[in-house]
Amino acid sequence: MDQTAYTEMFKPIRIGNIELKNRLAMAPVTTNYTQAGYPNEQLISFLAARAKGGVGLLVTPPAVNLFPGSPTHVLFTLLSEKAHIPLWNEIVETIHAFGAKAFGQVLAGGVGRQTAPGTKSKAPSRLPIVKIPPENIPKRSKEYEVRKGIPSLWDRYKDIPEPDELTIEEIEWIEDAYAKTIRLMKECGFDGAELHFAHGYLGDNFLSPRTNLRTDAYGGNFENRTRIFRNAIIKSRVQVGSDFVIGVRLTGNEHMTDGLTVEESSRIAKVGEESGLDYIHLTSGCWEAVKWYVPEEDSTMLPEAEVMKKTVKIPVITPAIHNPENVENALREGKTDMVSLCRPLIADPEWVNKVAKGQEKKIKKCIRCLGCLQRTRRALGLRCEVNREVGQERYNPEYHRISAPFSNQYCLPK
Ligand SMILES: Cc1cc2nc3c(=O)[nH]c(=O)nc-3n(C[C@H](O)[C@H](O)[C@H](O)COP(=O)(O)O)c2cc1C
Ligand code: SF4
Repeated sequence: MDQTAYTEMFKPIRIGNIELKNRLAMAPVTTNYTQAGYPNEQLISFLAARAKGGVGLLVTPPAVNLFPGSPTHVLFTLLSEKAHIPLWNEIVETIHAFGAKAFGQVLAGGVGRQTAPGTKSKAPSRLPIVKIPPENIPKRSKEYEVRKGIPSLWDRYKDIPEPDELTIEEIEWIEDAYAKTIRLMKECGFDGAELHFAHGYLGDNFLSPRTNLRTDAYGGNFENRTRIFRNAIIKSRVQVGSDFVIGVRLTGNEHMTDGLTVEESSRIAKVGEESGLDYIHLTSGCWEAVKWYVPEEDSTMLPEAEVMKKTVKIPVITPAIHNPENVENALREGKTDMVSLCRPLIADPEWVNKVAKGQEKKIKKCIRCLGCLQRTRRALGLRCEVNREVGQERYNPEYHRISAPFSNQYCLPK
């Protein structure tokens, strides 16, 4: 494609009352760059590099609000009390200083069924992951394991302890936790927030008929399965008002027998829109259908995006398209309103700037080996097989913020 043909991706777009300079976003990525629950300098610089790389929007890794007394997962970046504000504020100011808008992803309660081997979790129903079907495991990630000579990550997901079934009081606590963290996000200076209801984690476990077998007000029919989703949005709105952008990360198709279909997910998206959402950030699959969640080919989620776009009026963001030409075509054909990039920006934070300058041939391409996910799932810091600078950005002065005015507003918790 002629370089001058990349026009759609560089058109501005509005989400709620926020104007984005282009249609390219960084999708959230868990990095494990934390210290005792706080984001650290390593995370700030990692995000600085991606904001500097030209995206209009950066959706941060999840800000987590866990049950009181939860054994604190040392690798979570928490945002559940005012003491956590200063470092998140530093993240927002840094992203802004490098010219992007910042939305924060919010994960409340815990990870649901998608917990690590050996750790007990809480979920809507007592249904552990029992096995990842071999046909759903990305081939290149198996090749990576052979190349590295490491035991298979995927084989470990067969003896997950049965999760405890959440009580009604705990579910109401989760709804409030979403709202509390979103209010804290507004205080941090974020431009918006993204509720995590996606790809097999706790929120999504409620939405899916496959993983929610409850018979009370939070399970069974469509209305009951979406209750926590509606309440989380409504409670969040009460906390931040109508001006603050709230979106959701939502699975289009779970790709599992008896799981969420794209038709039902679109109905959920519609319910979200009617409850006050400003955008939908699509994803797909779940841990047992991981090849749909982190696909090996471009554009696998576009059919889901198209159905969703026919159902809602708010913008739809779609990930998993790495080739600039495919990104441009998806936008031009109206299949999605924005494209989010996760692995492409891990592999090359300058992806967007390179495309803008007509230097797409210089892009360091992600080889979809999933080495990044393999590491974070083994509790190690994010690294990339093709980009040795990942995790080391803090040593590169290019990513040190110098242009934004210093704000000491949040130096101490109020
Ligand atoms: C290492 C890694 C960590 C991820 N962490 C998150 C996360 O915390 N929250 C989330 O919603 N998605 C997460 N994802 C999914 C991505 O946001 C994205 O949807 C997926 O990688 C497909 O897009 P891509 O092909 O552009 O990478 C993660 C993906 C990877 C590879
Ligand atoms: S981002 Fe890097 S580590 Fe992750 S899949 Fe791509 S090349 Fe592999």
